[in-house]
Amino acid sequence: MKKEMIKLLLSHEVISDEDAAKLDSINDETIEQSIKELGFGKTEHITKEKITPNLETEYMGKEILCFRKVFSTNSIAKFLANHNADEGTVLISEIQTKARGRSGKKWEAPDGGVWMSMILRPKVPTARIGLITLATGVAIAKSIRSLGLDAKIKWPNDVLIHGDKMSGVLTEVNATFNEIDWIVVGIGIDSNIKLEDFSEDIRPGTTTLTEELPTKIDENELIAIFLNEFEKVYDLYKAGEIETILKDWRDLADTIGKYVNITQTGGKITQGYVVGINNEGSLIIERQDGTLEKIISGELRTVE
Ligand code: BTN
Repeated sequence: MKKEMIKLLLSHEVISDEDAAKLDSINDETIEQSIKELGFGKTEHITKEKITPNLETEYMGKEILCFRKVFSTNSIAKFLANHNADEGTVLISEIQTKARGRSGKKWEAPDGGVWMSMILRPKVPTARIGLITLATGVAIAKSIRSLGLDAKIKWPNDVLIHGDKMSGVLTEVNATFNEIDWIVVGIGIDSNIKLEDFSEDIRPGTTTLTEELPTKIDENELIAIFLNEFEKVYDLYKAGEIETILKDWRDLADTIGKYVNITQTGGKITQGYVVGINNEGSLIIERQDGTLEKIISGELRTVE
């Protein structure tokens, strides 16, 4: 029954706001009911057919599901991951009505951006989970640099241009103590969007490719470029070639050597100089008293 339900979800391209709201509870019965009520529709500019000619991957994006509007690609990806969707499945939506950002924040996802989620099933030690976030930042930064822009990474994985954020990553995991069932990596790239399309409060410190480039980018091409980059770094991740990923991350980082203020998950605030990152992707801070602190997750702000 569940398989049929998923098939049904995969065959739809549009999820109405109303259905999105029902789906948001991620409760199987609600989803089953909602999926039955879904309507068909077409995407306006992003399609699997336009992405695949530029795809050089073996498995990333072999299954690509494009939607015109969903509430959150990460939420749907998690649902599919819980129902045996394959590693490499990619979900893309031209608009998200209830997209989620890191630290429980909302994420604005209007038409024109690249909003996508990838389902991963790496057979790696759970201690390595945090690194996937850094690896994704590397793939995004490299993709944006291929467009001629000076993209940098702010720990753990915001991608900045001239200090302003244009991309973020939300990683969600289902794992037991020693085994990963799935990782869903959600990526938001502010591409063909004008700053004024975002609400006023998030405009400061934000940028988009439209603001940085003279011409519109082809989102389908950018998605393919990103998936090509991502598969390379993800293969290194699965093979345990962590040093290569960390070297790339350090080369692209905007954070090392800066004096920062970090609000850790849980509320604790730490101030100090960023010494670097360790092999698990945690940030190492030297506090004013000279002691070192390892930060696993949190929101970082550079102090001028
Ligand atoms: C951040 O706060 O920096 C992370 C933003 C992640 C947004 C992406 S857009 C696609 C995917 N679906 C979501 O609901 N969130 C992520």
